[in-house]
Amino acid sequence: MMCLHILASLIAIAISGGIVYRRRSGRCTSRKLLNNETVIITGASAGIGKATAHDLARRGARVIMACRNLAKAQRVADIIKAETGNPQVTVEELDLSDLESVRRFAENIKKKEKSLKVLINNAGAGVRSRQITRQNLELTMATNHYGHFLLTNLLLDLLKASAPSRIVTVSSKLHGVARQLDVENLNFRNASEYSLLAAYAQSKLCNILFTKELSRKLEGTGVTANCLHPGVVATEGFHKVGTWRGYVYSALAQVIAKDCLTGAQTTIYLAVSDEVKNTSGKYFVDCKESECYPQADNEDLARRLWDASERETSV
Ligand SMILES: NC(=O)c1ccc[n+]([C@@H]2O[C@H](COP(=O)([O-])OP(=O)(O)OC[C@H]3O[C@@H](n4cnc5c(N)ncnc54)[C@H](OP(=O)(O)O)[C@@H]3O)[C@@H](O)[C@H]2O)c1
Repeated sequence: MMCLHILASLIAIAISGGIVYRRRSGRCTSRKLLNNETVIITGASAGIGKATAHDLARRGARVIMACRNLAKAQRVADIIKAETGNPQVTVEELDLSDLESVRRFAENIKKKEKSLKVLINNAGAGVRSRQITRQNLELTMATNHYGHFLLTNLLLDLLKASAPSRIVTVSSKLHGVARQLDVENLNFRNASEYSLLAAYAQSKLCNILFTKELSRKLEGTGVTANCLHPGVVATEGFHKVGTWRGYVYSALAQVIAKDCLTGAQTTIYLAVSDEVKNTSGKYFVDCKESECYPQADNEDLARRLWDASERETSV
């Protein structure tokens, strides 16, 4: 009986905590329309990326969903078109973990598109055990960091020619778990050093260091680069991991976390709001500029990561 009471109290605390957390989440209040402006969103077939694509389509943007699973992404695109009445939502193939796929995607975009107003580096993944990609990179790092590093660099000329334009990268507060970054060992040479959390946190730290260095390089071009933590969001991400912990987090997330549209608010804010049209190199949480952990603010480390990423991606 006592156990039942404790369980009921814990469930009640989790539910009310979740309600408060969602209520306090930042909202993008901008009503800005993006009539016919072209936006690319990576990983728009699910979760935060899908909710972002939906919102930007509702604002009239030409949305290019950059996705690895074409059939799944096309189903999502069809729903977005039907719900928003915007026919300009298309799917293009992009597997961020394969640098050849990134190059093909960028070539295709540069051939077809005259302008690119917003690039949203949203896709993300994490794998349980160390896996190596075709280009000999660790898979979590390849998907979350190297793929976006290469993609952004290959699209920079188009973004500059379309200025004012914006680059938004979805990082995570978990970047703080990566206390140090060894730029000589970004791919976890020894499998024993690898864990899902270590690789994911490192890749999210790289997202912030990359954004800060990119924004320094982009000074005076009219292109801004910012990054964000979306909050804890109930998405496919948790159960895709495939561990019992992933399933538990996934179930818990349904109760305590933000829904996808709430989780997409900071991305949408950075993509559209006039309040941040001249802001660059910053980290946002809940639609507000926020402090990141000190290791993400290290300029020397950001420069060394940039050089190492250039070498690994042969950009
Ligand atoms: N959910 C959270 O609580 C949370 C917290 C902090 C940060 N984030 C970040 O938010 C972003 C979005 O994650 P989410 O929670 O929305 O996860 P999600 O529901 O799993 O969506 C991830 C998206 O990325 C795509 N993707 C994965 N690997 C890819 C690859 N190699 N090439 C191209 N696309 C790929 C997925 O495609 P498929 O549909 O084909 O799988 C999917 O569209 C990620 O960067 C994540 O790190 C999430």
